[in-house]
Amino acid sequence: ANEEQATGAAPAMLDGVDLHALAARLGTPLHVYSAGAIRARIAALREALAGLDALVCYAAKANSNRAVLGLMAGAGLGADIVSAGELWRALRAGIPARRIVFSGVGKTAAEIDAALDADILRFNLESRDELETLDRRAAARGVLARAAVRINPDVDALTHAKISTGRAENKFGVSLDEARGWFAAAGTYPHVRLDGLHVHIGSQILSVEPFRQALRHVDAFRRELEAGGHPIRSIDVGGGLGVRYRAGDRTVAVADYVAAIREALAGHDGRLLLEPGRWLVAEAGVLLTRVVRVKPGATRPFLVLDAAMNDLARPSLYDAWHDIAPVGAARADAERYDVVGPVCETGDTFARDRLLPRCAPGDLLMIRTTGAYGASMASTYNSRPLAAEVVLDGGRYAVVRRRQSFEEMVAGETAADHWENA
Ligand code: LLP
Repeated sequence: ANEEQATGAAPAMLDGVDLHALAARLGTPLHVYSAGAIRARIAALREALAGLDALVCYAAKANSNRAVLGLMAGAGLGADIVSAGELWRALRAGIPARRIVFSGVGKTAAEIDAALDADILRFNLESRDELETLDRRAAARGVLARAAVRINPDVDALTHAKISTGRAENKFGVSLDEARGWFAAAGTYPHVRLDGLHVHIGSQILSVEPFRQALRHVDAFRRELEAGGHPIRSIDVGGGLGVRYRAGDRTVAVADYVAAIREALAGHDGRLLLEPGRWLVAEAGVLLTRVVRVKPGATRPFLVLDAAMNDLARPSLYDAWHDIAPVGAARADAERYDVVGPVCETGDTFARDRLLPRCAPGDLLMIRTTGAYGASMASTYNSRPLAAEVVLDGGRYAVVRRRQSFEEMVAGETAADHWENA
């Protein structure tokens, strides 16, 4: 099935930096991000949005490294956050609170308080209970919270089930009926200005149609609400735009994506919010890793890497495909491998039956398209310290997360030698 997979090598240079020298200096596994590639994505999105009153709120969960958030801040982007931790990271990276939107089904009262105290732009509300909590916490502070209702349009995003969020059975958002009730009862919540709509139907979406469908529902609802005397000042179209993980993947061009938004929301004269995560950073990142050994297997050899599922969880979690290639020159002959990490689970597999140029211990490989949901989903499972992260920019590099030491890995842990009476 993988015959079509190219068996060549990956370029030895990225954003003007020699990757062999970088890996020799900083060690592997190493998350590498090209600042130039991220800036190019920001610029392309900006160009597509020209003329619209639009704010791009980068979904911080895709890659929440301080330097990456700093790049977004420097470009004038806002952030879509889903926790107090992401709020803290976004503010610290210099993203103004008034460019921050807060999504998620489980915002706690304490998280809502933190966001109110920061005076964020908008809460994307996902349940009546959350609306009531927001009203109470805002009342206690004597402030007016700005909020949108997250609509669940019951649309199939045609993506992996684990990252699909817009079907009625998913935990996200509320039905149009439920949302109608909120607007009808808006007077009951005097400390919440409910004047926005939000929709996010899933991630890694590779066709424009699901976006169109979702936005049609949202726009019809906007018209209904406005006719009923509820002005809608902002529509947040979420994120979800997919990227190319594999040669031959057909993605939606950003211009076509934005054209669909323009068309579907042509009657909306308020603000447009977008929450792209993956599309801005995924293709700007690679994970550098070395071959530890080639182990003979019953069906085919195992290529054992020094990177594992704790560094990049996507293949084990979603059976996601990531291209893998030797950095720089490759051997001429090819071989089929099961590409695995050292973690003690069979699920720690990056690729099965993958045709690659023949590899040997010590070879430097890159796993591609790891800039999104790579480092941000990493763990220290198997007591593997978090990998280092580095940003490249026009021939220079900056270590933006040093490789975690064993001490840092266990920071906060103690032996049970101090007991409190309960
Ligand atoms: N807005 C909301 C409310 C979201 O929940 C998400 C992602 C985004 C925006 C950004 O979506 P994006 O543009 O990145 O598709 N870990 C999974 C992806 C989970 C996405 C979660 N929500 C993966 O590695 O594929």
